Amino acid sequence: MHEGEKFLEALQRKAKLLYSSVRKTVDSFPDDCYWLLDPLARWTKAAFGDEAFELAANGYARYALEVNQLQQGYENSGVFFSGTRDGVVQEVYENPEYMIPYMWAAILIYPYWPSMVRHIAFLRDRFIKALPEGAAILEPACGHGALGLLAIEERNDLRVDGVDLSPAAIDIAERLRAVSGHAANSTLKVMDALDLQQAGEPGRYQGVLAAMLAEHLHEPQRLFRIIAHHLHPEGRCFFSTAIESAQKDHVFEFRTEAQVMTMAADAGLRVVDLISDGPRRPGVKYRPRALAAILEHRN
Ligand SMILES: C[S@@+](CC[C@H](N)C(=O)[O-])C[C@H]1O[C@@H](n2cnc3c(N)ncnc32)[C@H](O)[C@@H]1O
Repeated sequence: MHEGEKFLEALQRKAKLLYSSVRKTVDSFPDDCYWLLDPLARWTKAAFGDEAFELAANGYARYALEVNQLQQGYENSGVFFSGTRDGVVQEVYENPEYMIPYMWAAILIYPYWPSMVRHIAFLRDRFIKALPEGAAILEPACGHGALGLLAIEERNDLRVDGVDLSPAAIDIAERLRAVSGHAANSTLKVMDALDLQQAGEPGRYQGVLAAMLAEHLHEPQRLFRIIAHHLHPEGRCFFSTAIESAQKDHVFEFRTEAQVMTMAADAGLRVVDLISDGPRRPGVKYRPRALAAILEHRN
């Protein structure tokens, strides 16, 4: 049996209503989903014990319901975000009660959501496997840190430096890293990714992994400039974001895939590969989608 089944078994016990659609997604892409879920389950059990699978299931269920409600509010009112950046920092990133369950959801939506599931193979095949031998990766907003660990699990010649604004997220990431066997190849730091603006010598990283961060920034253009600064001239970036998707901490409303391409181009980058998926719901104004792209320098 796949070790990753532990996440699904807990979901079946804790959130029956959500289980059947998740099961369908995992069963449609088993190789990709278990590529993520199996090592994650091993690290989760070693770092947090068996009870963490139920916490993860509860965290996913709470998040899925909240996202549904917020998307409905956006659809009805047209208002994407009505809070403030400081409010989000206090209520989300600096609030462990919110952040800990949220981080379980953030990683589980990859294998659980039809809009995210193709990101797994895209990340593995177009980014991780395509990096040169011994590549160093910068991961802004690493959150739970699992994507960086999965990169090293796939290729133990890689190194990953992860940063995240949230101390609670970095705490989870540290605990997973400690049991993963990859601690020697990775570093983690609590830091605002926007402070990476001109930090360090340019072009040091052959890979930048900027997953699901841009929509959390008031000025996502700054993220593209940071990527351009840190990316090696021959390097590649995995970039992903949410489009027309309202969530508690989504402060920038991406409306089109073209916006991402324009922002990348304005920072001297080009999009060389792109996927974007979301449910087809007849009659809705806003169709939530998840975009993933590979960026390179436009030499
Ligand atoms: C949806 S999670 C994404 C986590 C992970 N990259 C993934 O794809 O699952 C968003 C993350 O962005 C982090 N974040 C938001 N604003 C940030 C900033 N300015 N600098 C660093 N991290 C930030 C949050 O703390 C959170 O961990």
